[in-house]
Amino acid sequence: MAMIEVAGLTKIHETQTEALRVLDGLALEVAAGEAVAIVGPSGSGKTTLLNLLGALDQPSGGTIRIAERNISGLTTAEAARFRNRSLGFIFQHHHLLPQLSVLENVQVPRLAGDWEETPAETEARARDLLHKVGLDHRLQHLPWQLSGGERLRVGVARALLNRPCLVLADEPTGLLDAAATERVAELLLQLNREEGVTMVVVTHNATLARRIGRTLELTQGKLKEVVR
Ligand SMILES: Nc1ncnc2c1ncn2[C@@H]1O[C@H](COP(=O)(O)OP(=O)(O)O)[C@@H](O)[C@H]1O
Ligand SMILES: [Mg+2]
Repeated sequence: MAMIEVAGLTKIHETQTEALRVLDGLALEVAAGEAVAIVGPSGSGKTTLLNLLGALDQPSGGTIRIAERNISGLTTAEAARFRNRSLGFIFQHHHLLPQLSVLENVQVPRLAGDWEETPAETEARARDLLHKVGLDHRLQHLPWQLSGGERLRVGVARALLNRPCLVLADEPTGLLDAAATERVAELLLQLNREEGVTMVVVTHNATLARRIGRTLELTQGKLKEVVR
C-alpha cells in the first residue's frame, strides 16, 4: 500500500509584494512502512512540503493522499482530527512543557481529546516508548534537567504516542552534535522497523540521510531521487 501519494502539488506563498511558487507540480510516492529523507538547500520548500503532508496548510494545486485518504480538501476541524489520530510530528524545538515531567510530557497528546485508550493504557504506552528511546531512568526529570539529545528523544516518544501511521520530522537533529545525531538516526530506524511507522525526515545531515537510505532532493519545486 502507498502511505503517501502526491501528484501535481503546487504551493504559492502570497506576500504583499510577490507570489512565491515554492512547490511546482511536485510528485511523491512513499510506501507504507518506508522511511525517506528529504534534503535540499535552505529555502527550497522542505518545511512547506511537510506542512502540506501534515494537513497544517492547504495546497494551491494538486492532490495529497495519505493512507488512501484525500487530505487536500479537509476542513480545519477534520484536519485537526486527522493529525491527532494519524500523524506524529518531530521538530528541532520540541516544545516540551517545562512544568511537566518526561513521563507526563509524552502523554500530552492525550489532552487533545478524541482519545480511545484509558489513562492507564496511555501511561503504559508512554513508559514503553520511553523505554524504546532509552529514557527509562529519566521518567521524573523535568525538561531543563535533560540534554538536547534527551529532549529530542522525549519529543520522538511523544510523536509516537497515538500510534501514528506517518511520522513527519523537520530537521530533527539540527541542534545535536555528531554522536547524538548518530544515536537519533539509529533510534528513528529502530522505531520505523518495530512500530512499522512510515517516516519522512527532512534533514541537512548527510549521515542521517545516508542511514535512512532512500533520499529525495527538493530543488526548483520538485523532488528528485538522489542516486548513490
Ligand atoms: N507562510 C509563508 N508566507 C510567505 N512565504 C513563505 C511562507 N513560508 C515559507 N515561505 C517562503 O517559502 C520559501 C520556502 O520556505 P521553507 O518551506 O521554509 O523552506 P526550507 O524549509 O526548505 O528552508 C522561502 O523562500 C520562504 O521564505
Ligand atoms: Mg525548513
